[in-house]
Amino acid sequence: MSTLALLGGEPIVKKRLGSTWPVFGAAEEKLLMEAFRSGKWCRLVYKEKDVQSMVTRFEDAFAAYCGTAYAVAVTNGTQALECALKAAGVKPGEEVIVPALTFVATATAVLLVGAKPVIVDVDPATYNMNPAAAEAAITPRTKAIIPVHNGGYPADMDRINAIAAKYGLRVIEDCAHAHGSEWKGKRAGSLGHFGCFSFQQGKTMTAGEGGIVLTNDKELADLAYSFHNIGRVAGRPFTDFYNVASNLRMTEFQGAVLLGQLSRLDEQIEIRERNIAYLAEGMQTIAGVKPLRRTPEVTRWSFYYWNFHYRAAELDNLPRHVFIEAMEAEGVPVMRGAHGNPIYHHPVLKTNSDVIVADCPEAERIAATEALALGHAVLLAEKEDMDLILAAMEKISHHAGELLKRVG
Ligand SMILES: Cc1ncc(COP(=O)(O)O)c(C=O)c1O
Repeated sequence: MSTLALLGGEPIVKKRLGSTWPVFGAAEEKLLMEAFRSGKWCRLVYKEKDVQSMVTRFEDAFAAYCGTAYAVAVTNGTQALECALKAAGVKPGEEVIVPALTFVATATAVLLVGAKPVIVDVDPATYNMNPAAAEAAITPRTKAIIPVHNGGYPADMDRINAIAAKYGLRVIEDCAHAHGSEWKGKRAGSLGHFGCFSFQQGKTMTAGEGGIVLTNDKELADLAYSFHNIGRVAGRPFTDFYNVASNLRMTEFQGAVLLGQLSRLDEQIEIRERNIAYLAEGMQTIAGVKPLRRTPEVTRWSFYYWNFHYRAAELDNLPRHVFIEAMEAEGVPVMRGAHGNPIYHHPVLKTNSDVIVADCPEAERIAATEALALGHAVLLAEKEDMDLILAAMEKISHHAGELLKRVG
């Protein structure tokens, strides 16, 4: 096998792998221009009275896609979580359980409503919240649980919902990575009391920024509506305000672009799923890398990024960061997986006395040495690109000893 690119050899990949991001075209442009030319750029009135609104159309389409009865489109994913927490009735001083491996906003949204995030360990098989760790962290002050579908892999919603039912807690799914993922045939966002999504630039559907809160409960939907619209109450006079709340309304431009983006999602998920099945199969015989086991409950896996395990011990203990550098030199962009360090390492959470941290040995180990990931745009590709990724992995695996001697 030829010399590693990191050691001066020819890289395996000599072109861009996968797609540029975002993917957009005539569908988004037409809808966007329709919104622009209408001169009505803001959805102010209650949605039932404004069925032509792009935001209303997007809410209805996305709720139907995810299998919920109600949707409230908002400014971004962080504020979707804040809106859901307020609508769930989470009050200052109450506790909300979140996983250690996620984006910081899963926990800061809790602080932003005055409550306390309780950070618990993850399951090493899925990198999602460990339900047993969540149950162990429950106190009389616990009000809600926020499972995150890390990378798009659905959290164990059966166990989390059973725990929530046992203790009378609200479940707010953080679906920022999971547009279209399914757990036992039901879509992410429809599995708890609320589902919160982000449509920020890097997400698998985007309008640059944006978010949405989904629910099947009319009362909770009305509360979310009020908390996203400066405290107005649906069906009551537009000039009256009932709750202390911010303006989280999505613009008509975002609604238009997202309607276009939604029309692309199924095909993109299909391509990524097909490619991952192929990659996972091909990796079986490559030392040092191992796919996460996909359980039968995961009936659809929409990848924001694909986490997989790095097994340094199979490569003479080649450090993970050297493997990443070697993959990058071969032309394959690989990241540390599972969203980086456990969130309690962020200065904002480390220094906040309202943050409660449980023991998280798995999250520590996974973040420090084990998790790797491929991004969703890389997976939007032809099968030949997956062959190149496998060839790069195989090449590094084969030369691990040599690489160690040079770097170590
Ligand atoms: C898991 C998770 N939750 C919440 C958010 C927040 O979304 P936004 O950036 O739209 O505020 C993100 C964004 O990256 C995320 O990854």
